[in-house]
Amino acid sequence: MATKIIIDTDPGQDDAVALLLALASPDELELLGIVTVAGNVGLAQNSRNALKIVELSGKINTKVYAGCDRPIRRVPVTAEHVHGQSGLDGPNLPDAKITLQDMHGVDFIVQTLQNAAPGEITICALGPLTNIAMALVRAPEIAPKIKQIVLMGGGYFEGGNITPTAEFNIYVDPEAADVVVHCGAPIVMIPLDVTHQALATKERLANFADLGNKTGTAIHQMLTFSERFDLEKYQWQGAPLHDPCVIAYLLDPDMFTGRLINVEIEVDSELTRGMTVADFWGVTDRNPNVTYMRHIDADAYYAMLTDRLVRLP
Ligand code: BDR
Ligand code: CA
Repeated sequence: MATKIIIDTDPGQDDAVALLLALASPDELELLGIVTVAGNVGLAQNSRNALKIVELSGKINTKVYAGCDRPIRRVPVTAEHVHGQSGLDGPNLPDAKITLQDMHGVDFIVQTLQNAAPGEITICALGPLTNIAMALVRAPEIAPKIKQIVLMGGGYFEGGNITPTAEFNIYVDPEAADVVVHCGAPIVMIPLDVTHQALATKERLANFADLGNKTGTAIHQMLTFSERFDLEKYQWQGAPLHDPCVIAYLLDPDMFTGRLINVEIEVDSELTRGMTVADFWGVTDRNPNVTYMRHIDADAYYAMLTDRLVRLP
């Protein structure tokens, strides 16, 4: 039976590839809905981007809900410097004909989980955790309905990417991340420590262009745009492809290794705001609350991406 998932996202070129990977995998993943959140760019633009990606995939019955337009307590921080003004610069995708659902994204999360059986729904979090935290605060009884929350965020060994100690998704809404990691549901964190091993080298990028479908061309154009910032910053042979790791984890968890540890979120200090303090070596007696991923088989990841994405238009 397919795993029932909700994807919470701020697309974002790498979010877009994650959405496409999920949409290309209906046998394994039943996508109940996509919820957008303020993150890479503002909520309205992230929502437009999500609709465009759904149309690109041809799965136009997929429902998209707009969630929160700002973090719980902080001033919004965006990343146009990475993703471009549209958040999805690169390809020239037409404006979508499909439209957003009327329901607020947080209401959709709450209702879907309230109507679910215990442990039935998996949440895939690809952006700041605002919507998910809001849902958990409003209706704490939904936590046991969650099979797991698999999130891209944080970093420990690799440090941060928006400040020296914080990864973007956690930095933008640290209070939300704090709620999520303590909600009691199983949490799988895929941090920069993993995604920095999953580099879109020239050869891997070319494989997308060679897929021979519209999806492959669009992905090639997206990642060619978004990589320029990272290539200059890191001077690596390719840019990390973060968010699709979450979907890859659901499709093949054996591609990843990690361990159950305690992770706390820094919410007080301005200097280290949003740091994921990962007790990887077990030097405290704090309770383990997060399965913290550490390694990925990058070749298997890119092979999965091309194998699956060729199925789309
Ligand atoms: C995360 O931040 C965003 O810019 C990406 O989409 C990804 O979710 C990486 O730090
Ligand atoms: Ca994202």
